[in-house]
Amino acid sequence: MVKNNNVIIQAEKQGSAESLYKPGLEGVVATRSNISYVDGEQGLLEYRGIAVRELVEHSTFEETVYLLLYNHLPSVREMKQFSTLFAKQRMLPQSVRHAISTFPVGMHPMVALQSGISLLQGEDYYADDVSSQLHNIRRCISLIAKVTAIMAAFERARHSEEPMPAQSKYSHAANFLFMLTGEPPDELATEIFDKLLIMHAEHTMNASTFACRVIASTKSSVYSSVSGAVGALAGPLHGGANERVLRMLFSIGHPDNVDSFVEDRLATGAKIMGVGHRIYKVKDPRAIILQEYLEKLIAVRGGEEAQNLYATAKRLEEAVEAKLGGKKIYPNVDFYSGIVLDLLGVPMDLFTTVFALSRVAGWCAHWLEQVAANRLFRPQQEYSGDHQRPYTPIDRR
Ligand code: COA
Repeated sequence: MVKNNNVIIQAEKQGSAESLYKPGLEGVVATRSNISYVDGEQGLLEYRGIAVRELVEHSTFEETVYLLLYNHLPSVREMKQFSTLFAKQRMLPQSVRHAISTFPVGMHPMVALQSGISLLQGEDYYADDVSSQLHNIRRCISLIAKVTAIMAAFERARHSEEPMPAQSKYSHAANFLFMLTGEPPDELATEIFDKLLIMHAEHTMNASTFACRVIASTKSSVYSSVSGAVGALAGPLHGGANERVLRMLFSIGHPDNVDSFVEDRLATGAKIMGVGHRIYKVKDPRAIILQEYLEKLIAVRGGEEAQNLYATAKRLEEAVEAKLGGKKIYPNVDFYSGIVLDLLGVPMDLFTTVFALSRVAGWCAHWLEQVAANRLFRPQQEYSGDHQRPYTPIDRR
């Protein structure tokens, strides 16, 4: 067997036989970006230089989208124009609404979302032309506005209900809750859902954002880049964790069962969902904020079940810290978001799509940044196979 690969040869030429391969690209700088910043040691997350807590406390999802896309906070006039444009874009093309009504009812909502986003390209004939930044931003605004309508239409279709048209009097957060249920959302639910959307909107070079940028680097449309990102987000190691956290809390059942649950998981080498992060080595700042809003929500509308779930989650957080604190494993954004969404009446299998409805803003900002200063992603591999193997005809194998 003859071993040969460019990477090792390169490393050897530089005087080191050490491989350059970094599994999971850990520690590798894949791009230069001014969209968001994470300090994993301090527990800091900023969008365009503004701390996420500031945005959660003072901004709205719409304003945060503007900030992410345009890199500055809007003036009153800019915000008004943007909100009008955003609200007008929520309506889905008839072809997409019809297609969604034919999706299999057992389809996972993330697959429905991914498919719906791809279908939108069918109504944007020039989507492949990414040369105009102005058109690109318009497309992003339209896409961010429409993903909520795709999700709400799918949720209603699988219950044999007609889609609810968006209402211009409602905010983006209120519209999603309204389009989902057909009921006017209450103030507290809207406020907390809006904050949850702000918190999930962007998070540096995570797997889905990287996937989006890789697709964008081929000059592919925003629809294919974002639908690819949705696929990456769906996995349990990424956005798919929030749904699994709630299932896990239900399966634990009571705070008294936490210790044996943790022992069993760790003994089998299984992961505990909603804790640990590649970048954060302290408690995720979004988990801290979410926990504060969860407490507010529980105080107003938490029944016995919600109190028990929250008590179980807090006990689990303590047990994880006791057992895994040495490895710097703490709650991430998904740890408390499931209980919040459950209390807001969002069905469990929609949790990851709620994450996507918000993160689409970050993906679009990255898509814009990538196409504006593009370099095709084309890393190398370290070949670990054979060379010069003889071909044996099938009748002699
Ligand atoms: N439960 C138990 N142990 C965990 C853990 C978890 N959730 N996350 C990490 N660890 C342990 C690993 O077993 C490993 O231990 P070892 O060094 O003794 O082998 C060590 O911590 C490092 O873990 P690793 O999986 O290599 O770290 P990573 O940087 O790849 O992990 C995640 C990041 C997010 C993939 C990981 O923490 C995880 O799977 N978490 C659960 C899923 C989740 O909540 N995802 C949402 C992320 S926002």
